[in-house]
Amino acid sequence: CGIVGYVGPQETSGRPLDVVLEGLRRLEYRGYDSAGVALVGAGDGQVAAAKKAGKLANLVAEIDANPLPAASAAIGHTRWATHGGPTDRNAHPHLADDGRLAVIHNGIVENFAVLKAELVDEGVTFASETDTEVAAQLLARAYRDSKDLTTAMCEVARRLEGTFTLLAVHADLPGTVVGARHDSPLVVGLGDGENFMGSDVAAFVAHTSEALELGQDQVVTIRPDAVEVLDFDGAPAEAKHFTVDWDAAAAEKGGFESFMDKEIHDQPQAVGDTLLGRTDADGRLVLDDVRIDEAVLRSIDKIIVIACGTAAYAGHVAKYAIEHWCRIPVEVELAHEFRYRDPIVNEKTLVVAVTQSGETMDTLMAVRHAREQGAKVVSIVNTHGSTIPRESDAVLYTHAGPEIAVASTKAFLSQITAAYLLGLYLAQLRGNKFPDEIATLLDDLRDMPRKIQTVIERGEYVRAVARSMRGASSVLFLGRHVGFPVAMEGALKLKELAYIHAEGFAAGELKHGPIALIDEGQPVFVVVPSPRGRDSLHSKVVSNIQEIRARGARTLVIAEDGDDAVLPYADEIFWIPQAPTLLQPLLATVPLQIFAMALATAKGLDVDQPRNLAKSVTVE
Ligand code: G6P
Repeated sequence: CGIVGYVGPQETSGRPLDVVLEGLRRLEYRGYDSAGVALVGAGDGQVAAAKKAGKLANLVAEIDANPLPAASAAIGHTRWATHGGPTDRNAHPHLADDGRLAVIHNGIVENFAVLKAELVDEGVTFASETDTEVAAQLLARAYRDSKDLTTAMCEVARRLEGTFTLLAVHADLPGTVVGARHDSPLVVGLGDGENFMGSDVAAFVAHTSEALELGQDQVVTIRPDAVEVLDFDGAPAEAKHFTVDWDAAAAEKGGFESFMDKEIHDQPQAVGDTLLGRTDADGRLVLDDVRIDEAVLRSIDKIIVIACGTAAYAGHVAKYAIEHWCRIPVEVELAHEFRYRDPIVNEKTLVVAVTQSGETMDTLMAVRHAREQGAKVVSIVNTHGSTIPRESDAVLYTHAGPEIAVASTKAFLSQITAAYLLGLYLAQLRGNKFPDEIATLLDDLRDMPRKIQTVIERGEYVRAVARSMRGASSVLFLGRHVGFPVAMEGALKLKELAYIHAEGFAAGELKHGPIALIDEGQPVFVVVPSPRGRDSLHSKVVSNIQEIRARGARTLVIAEDGDDAVLPYADEIFWIPQAPTLLQPLLATVPLQIFAMALATAKGLDVDQPRNLAKSVTVE
């Protein structure tokens, strides 16, 4: 879910509503099942609220039809439904205290049934099925007792189990928003005579780039000219000041039809920026923020990469590169599976957490689990001020800039780039590679943005093929070696965006089962490795193309410029520039992204906000 809060000058105006709606627009990628706002300060002793199921546009239409009064503070919410379906009634805010208190919430209150029973016993009646309303009613009760919203919030925060970011306003306090966070994101934006809160900085970056990163288990109260941070016991607490390093324009479409299209075009820069400034005066690789002893990094005997979704496929690419360069065994595991299988992890294990948002709850919990077992954690993260870097022993930031489209593109290529850097860094540290070998690999990497640009420029042909396939009901993807995670990512993109059944296979596995799926006309993408690379890898994949074509498949082949060996077996060819085998995913993924986007667009679907998904999943 996305959360925004605003307090401004005491006189009432339309600005609180404008700021909050604008913030919600920028946060909508965090959830778009419903949206709502609550305002205080109109002087009638009530909260003014509006909420609507569906996308933000529905809420805006509702407010246009039934305007809200001028105000001095506001909170807003865009929801990814957990408890209770995506209806008007279950949308946030939830009101209590006879319509004088409003609460919005991100996360899940796990002990809500017990708390609800307690309140029902006291005669409280509930208007919705949500766990959030329980928090609102609890807060109303605590406020009646203490007459202080901050104190009341601390008390409620201590009672709730699960994960939450809560924001509250009360009609008695026209210039105040109170927030609390426990295992769920919340940042504060510092303005001039006004202050902000948001799930992430996108909520307020149009107004200020000065921000506070709240620590775990903190309550924050913002007023127009003051910000107060406490722990859940009410004692003063520290929050970390930081300056946002991108401006609001970076989160605009910039003339493209969709954020996804823009972000695909951002990829050369995202990869280039992730590579920038990584070597010291002696040409040695350096990471951003390493709080691990070099001796410890030399002694590790196993790496486990943990991540979810697209980030996990970046982890698979990392496995091939790091094992090859560093000779350390690397496992890749979905974060939610890792945590619950009693993994063998100890002081000699390095866990690498890959995450665009830095907030994915499954990944955060896996990070904590790994550290409890004594492992060191390096995280590869795109979003500054997020939770996972703070809880890691070392961080390698990707510099992709804000990624707004729900389906990941530029973050994925930057994650792969960062994983290569980590592999080379470990190889340097552990003496697996000579400095000149590392320098050559870095040169190859620095050449990749130009090649990615070339693939993007060839995109029109991919789009045309995609448009011709809008009736497809199933598409398969094959790859070997690093082409395998590319195939899986290609399939995921198509599922996410075009709602078409798609699957990625290891090309060698085909004959062990999936080949039974091949029928006349079945479209199959094949990622062909470089013919100049490892021994028989290329020829094995060419044989696989022949096997499926002989059985009627329509072959859509991604191959290197000049690879004529594939010509006789390809119905369509998407050429990519030549590159070392391990680096090929940075190129081969791009036509698959463009394909999924163009096919979804041809079907009339919303590529930035596909159904049922959210960009940052901050619940388990
Ligand atoms: C969600 C998104 C995916 C993303 C995954 C991991 O499921 O829809 O696009 O890959 O989370 O997100 P992270 O922020 O941890 O990279």
